[in-house]
Amino acid sequence: MHQGITLNQFFNEQWHQQPEIDVDLLALVDDMARACKRIAHAVSRGPLRNDLGNAGSENVQGEQQKKLDLIANDIMLRCHQWTGRVAALASEEMETIHPVADAAKRGKYLLVFDPLDGSTNIDVNLSIGTIFSVLPAPADRSQISEQDFLQPGRNQLCAGYAIYGPSTVLVLTLRQGVHSFVLDEDIGEFILFDADHRIPEQCCEFAINSARQRLWEGPVQRYIADCIAGSEGPQRKDYTMRWVGAMVADAHRVLSRGGIFLYPRNPYSADKPGKLRLLYEANPLALLVEQAGGRATTGTEPVLDVQPHKLHQRIPLILGSADEVARVEAYHRTDPGDG
Ligand code: AHG
Ligand code: MN
Ligand code: MN
Repeated sequence: MHQGITLNQFFNEQWHQQPEIDVDLLALVDDMARACKRIAHAVSRGPLRNDLGNAGSENVQGEQQKKLDLIANDIMLRCHQWTGRVAALASEEMETIHPVADAAKRGKYLLVFDPLDGSTNIDVNLSIGTIFSVLPAPADRSQISEQDFLQPGRNQLCAGYAIYGPSTVLVLTLRQGVHSFVLDEDIGEFILFDADHRIPEQCCEFAINSARQRLWEGPVQRYIADCIAGSEGPQRKDYTMRWVGAMVADAHRVLSRGGIFLYPRNPYSADKPGKLRLLYEANPLALLVEQAGGRATTGTEPVLDVQPHKLHQRIPLILGSADEVARVEAYHRTDPGDG
């Protein structure tokens, strides 16, 4: 445990050791920490301010927006759009991209985010979080378009999430390992918790919404059946199952103590080949998991290699401890058939 090193101090030290680190990116991380503190505050006061429940609107994906989805989206916009670091923003809660209005003040990054992941948990006081991804903006920023955001996850310069649970925790990567911080509310600072987080290898937990079993692709059906067979099955170990219903919280558990998270391909839905969104849910988590020594796949290819073709594109996502994810990939290779 590091004694009281703040997020700023940590990155200042990193910058002294590696002067090639982009200081503008560190400043963006600082903006993000501020945004997450404000969202944590809004979330924790939600019931007292009559901020629970639906906003009465739908997002572009036809999902009910919660009041706190919109409040968190607004906080993200206010904390990032006037800093001079960001050229344009995109969010789960905004149909189209949001370029910074003054083209002369556009910075060198594109920011994509899910302002509140796990919205259905808000009203029942369970963990939720904010997920973000930073991509390079094009050299010519006079005309930013959706096309500029359609970059594979390997291009991410930074990715992370904040989780609003028993503590507020910020987990992020600048492609040099994974660092986690815990919010000390008394001093309003994120304090270093783990400077170089590695995902544990030993795994006996899986996370999947089994109510949708009839919609899983064949290899996932067979993998989960073998997990459930436990020590008497081919895996030769007993598993347990956990499902928070907020990917950010499920993935945080998997990053913290190992295991696997699956929101697999639905072979019966051509237009929705998964539930989770590529740019602001799957990609940032995939980069974090890879940087922590784990794997993230669609089943057939690394998530980070997928070329996006639209802003709110959905994708199958399987991530976690490297050996366990590799096992699911092997099920896809040896018997890819569905049903
Ligand atoms: P969001 O609240 O941002 O729309 O995301 C919800 C996602 C994800 O967080 C979670 O893993 C998944 O939906 C849960 O889906 P089910 O309702 O199928 O369990
Ligand atoms: Mn989400
Ligand atoms: Mn969301």
